[in-house]
Amino acid sequence: MGRRRKDPGSRRAISRRGFLTTVSTAPIAGAAIGRAHETPAPVPAAEAHEPVNVVLRINGRSFKLQVEPRDTLLTALREKLGMTGTKPGCERGECGACTVLIDGNPRYACLTLALEAAGHEITTVEGLMNGEQLGPVQKAFVEDDAMQCGYCTPGQVMAAEGLLRANPNPSLEEIRLGMSGNLCRCGAYDHIFKAVQRAAQARRTGGMS
Ligand code: FES
Ligand code: FES
Repeated sequence: MGRRRKDPGSRRAISRRGFLTTVSTAPIAGAAIGRAHETPAPVPAAEAHEPVNVVLRINGRSFKLQVEPRDTLLTALREKLGMTGTKPGCERGECGACTVLIDGNPRYACLTLALEAAGHEITTVEGLMNGEQLGPVQKAFVEDDAMQCGYCTPGQVMAAEGLLRANPNPSLEEIRLGMSGNLCRCGAYDHIFKAVQRAAQARRTGGMS
């Protein structure tokens, strides 16, 4: 599911595996050529655009919808369910604008297929609201003026929420590290980090749930 790390050795491992596969299947390929007159039964190709029924658990509710196997969770949220709080940015796992929680952990919705997310608890920025009231992290972002244009803010809030669920008392360095998958083109980082500290402290002192 969609999050951030690339294995620097994977390219080499794949090419070596590909080489071994080619070598080890060569005799099989030869045998297949020898039986070329035996026409295999046609296998229907899976169509990536054929809709599939799926149930997604989002913000504590179940939603039945149809998605294409190639649809990302970001597409499903915004275009199928109208949950536009989750923002599209780069749509290739670089900016963090699309961050949601899956089973409590921050994940990029643009790199997660909707079908992959089935059976998991998804939380979006809408799910942090308490009725009409802002949730604690959202409130801290407002109080610390942790935004300029605001486009990155839903993703930043979700990353902060995930960080504080895993680590209720992070150091500044841990906050920097925990928020490092979320970019802010306006450069509001100082205020964002202060907001995360404020939300953490408020949680510890019982000022926020
Ligand atoms: S839109 Fe998903 S990481 Fe940029
Ligand atoms: S507030 Fe503008 S991109 Fe972060």
